[in-house]
Order: sequence, then structure tokens, then C-alpha cells
Amino acid sequence: MSTATPAPEAISPIRLALRAAQVPPSATAALDAQAKALIAQGVDVINLTSGEPAFPTVEPAAQAALDAIATDFTRYTPAAGIPELRAATADFINRHGTAYEPGQVVITAGAKQALHYAFTTLVEPGDEILIPAPYWVSYPHLAALAGGTLVPVQPAPGAGLKVTADQLRAAVTDRTRVLLLNNPSNPSGVVYDRTELAALVQVAIDHDLAIISDEICDHWVFGDSEHTSVAALSPEADQRTLTIGGVSKTFAMTGWRIGWVAAPTPVAAAITAIQSHTASAPSSISQKAALGALTADLAPELERRRRELDDRRLTTLKALAAIQGIEVDGDPTGAFFLLADVSGTYGHTLADRTVISAADFAKLLLTEANVAVVPGADFAAPNHVRISYTVPPDRLAEALDRIADFIERLGRASG
Ligand SMILES: Cc1ncc(COP(=O)(O)O)c(C=O)c1O
Repeated sequence: MSTATPAPEAISPIRLALRAAQVPPSATAALDAQAKALIAQGVDVINLTSGEPAFPTVEPAAQAALDAIATDFTRYTPAAGIPELRAATADFINRHGTAYEPGQVVITAGAKQALHYAFTTLVEPGDEILIPAPYWVSYPHLAALAGGTLVPVQPAPGAGLKVTADQLRAAVTDRTRVLLLNNPSNPSGVVYDRTELAALVQVAIDHDLAIISDEICDHWVFGDSEHTSVAALSPEADQRTLTIGGVSKTFAMTGWRIGWVAAPTPVAAAITAIQSHTASAPSSISQKAALGALTADLAPELERRRRELDDRRLTTLKALAAIQGIEVDGDPTGAFFLLADVSGTYGHTLADRTVISAADFAKLLLTEANVAVVPGADFAAPNHVRISYTVPPDRLAEALDRIADFIERLGRASG
């Protein structure tokens, strides 16, 4: 007879509400946990799963936070954020040609919370949210928490991981309420240009949809790509768009938790009311840090970082192009990710395990080559893995060597 007793948390009498019970832990987090467990055992794992640029927080932000603490700027702030940060944020967003007033900007605890507020504010139970696939892992769960359903629109094979306006239009139903766009894209790194974006936005205008435009990676665009802000496309686009962004990625400030939503005034007011009852406001100290980042002259430093990341991107693309069996999909000229199709390795066996999915590929790559990447199933890219190329150049070069060697071993072992 087993004497094992269940862990205390397994026998709680508390019944979870359906909306909580249906949110699974993210695939990114699961793989990250596995990679960290190996690292804890002393294994030299190179982690290419990261969703943040591997740079330090910009210095003026850190200094502004220290000043905030020293001057006891540690109380509740206005619910929408301190006025000087709302003004600096409006200026910052408007560098892409929008015309937001400070009163249209709500400062939040990261872009993630801004997205949560956006869904809560716009989505009724049963509403559908259209999104071009592949898409970021959190969107389906943010939509579901608001009672909505994400409706992915898959790009045609060979279309560079981009969807067309016709494809979007064909997916509109009488329940469609929101078009969700994320440009540059996490996970693909693909950037829709102005013409392509305008065509997608026209679908929203024609069908009277609101647009949530997640532009968190707007700084990270490379090559000939430029960032286009949806709300800058036309007055019609502006009137129906909620622009989401934050300091996390641009200023390497993921832990400070400052993001924003800029929206038509009534929407900004509704979001402010929700925030006033749920978070009160974001951290006063982090708001000062963000203000420090936004008001310092950081253009040269940010440009230096952008070029560094571009070098890492080009190194990665070159190395992967030389490997048979995996194929980079689309033209990753934004964010700091790319998607590699690994279906060419299916059927191959190593260490008694046969690869039949991108999840198998990622697991085997971690255990056999000590490189962590994210399998694409939760991004609606089931034959792909997401590679984040933000790690320092020497580690990136080592990771790419390990991937090449792993695939060769996989081929040899099966061949
Ligand atoms: C596409 C996308 N949107 C939003 C976020 C959330 O960013 P924040 O750190 O500002 O909450 C992320 C972070 O990974 C992201 O990749």
C-alpha cells in the first residue's frame, strides 16, 4: 500500500473559477524551467528562449529611480500615471507620426497589463478577436480572460509568414469585434510594411472593428524595414486604435514593469477607471525611471544597441542558412526573434528518441546539445521553433555551432 501523501497544495478544497482553471502555464515558461533545472545541475545551457534584449537598463532610468527613492517619491500616483510621464510617453509614441495628447495615454505595469486592460475594456463574452498567425503566446489567454476567443488567420505557405487583407476579411464573422496586430512580430520577427499594414487596417475600418496594435518592439527594426504605427496611418485608423507599448524592450527595462496604452479619450478614461480599482497605478519609482529613460538623450546609445542586435541577427541568419534540415521562415527584420521550420528533421532519431514534432526537436536540442529554444505550437507555428538571438556574441556563436553539430548528429544517427 502506498504511504505517499499528496502535496498540501494538491488537496486544497478551493475550486478554481473556470476562467482561471483554463489558463495553462506558458510553453515558454515550461522550457525555461527545464533549462534552469539543467543549469542548476551545473550544465552549460545556452538559453535562446529569452524575450528580452541582453543589455543593461539604460543609466538615466536607474539614476531617476534612485532619486525617486532618495526624495521619498513613494506614494500612490494618479491612476493614469504621473502627468509628466504621460506627456513624455505621448511625445515618444508620436515619433512615429501619431498625434496623441498626454490625456490619451495611460501608464500601466508593462505592456502586458495594458493588453489585459484593452481586452477587458473592449471584449464582451463570445466576441471574436482576429489575429494574424503566428502570434505571441499570451494573446489567447488574455482574450479568454475577457470572455473572448482569438481567431487566428494563418499565412499561406510560402507567403513569408504574412497574411493578406483578403485572408483577414474571409475570417470576419458577425461576432468579430477586434483586430489584434503585433508589428514587429513576436515570434516571427517579421515586419509588415506600411502598405501591407494599411490593407489589414482597412479590413477593420470596413467591418467597424476596434484595433489593438501591440508595438512593443517598435525600436527593433533592421535592414530596410521601418516601423509603422497603425494609428498614424489615417484619422479612421487613429479613431479605432489602441496603441500598446512600453519601456521593457527599447530601454532594456523588463523588470521595471512600465508600459502604456494610448487610445481615443473615452477608451483611455475607461481603462484609467479599471486601473484605479485594480492596481491603483503602476509603481511610482518605476514611473520616474521610465521618465528618466524617455527624457534623456539616449538616441546614440539606442542606435548602438540596435546595430549590435542587427549584427547578432545577421550572424544567426548566416549560420542557420548553412544548416540543412532547418529553414528560417519569412524575413525576420524586427524584434529579436526568428522562426525556424524544423520539419526537415522529423523522422530522425538520436539517443533513442525520434523527432516527430518541433516540441521533440526542442527537447532533444536541450538535452543533447544544451541549447534552449521555444517550440512553436503555442505560437500557432507547430513545425517551428523560436530562436531569440539577443545573447552576447560569443554565446550566440557557440549556440549556433551546437545547433549545427546537433543536426549533423541527428542526420548521421538516422542515416
Ligand atoms: C509582443 C509582446 N507584447 C507585449 C509584451 C509584454 O511586455 P511588457 O514587459 O511591457 O509587459 C511582450 C513581452 O514579451 C511581447 O513580446
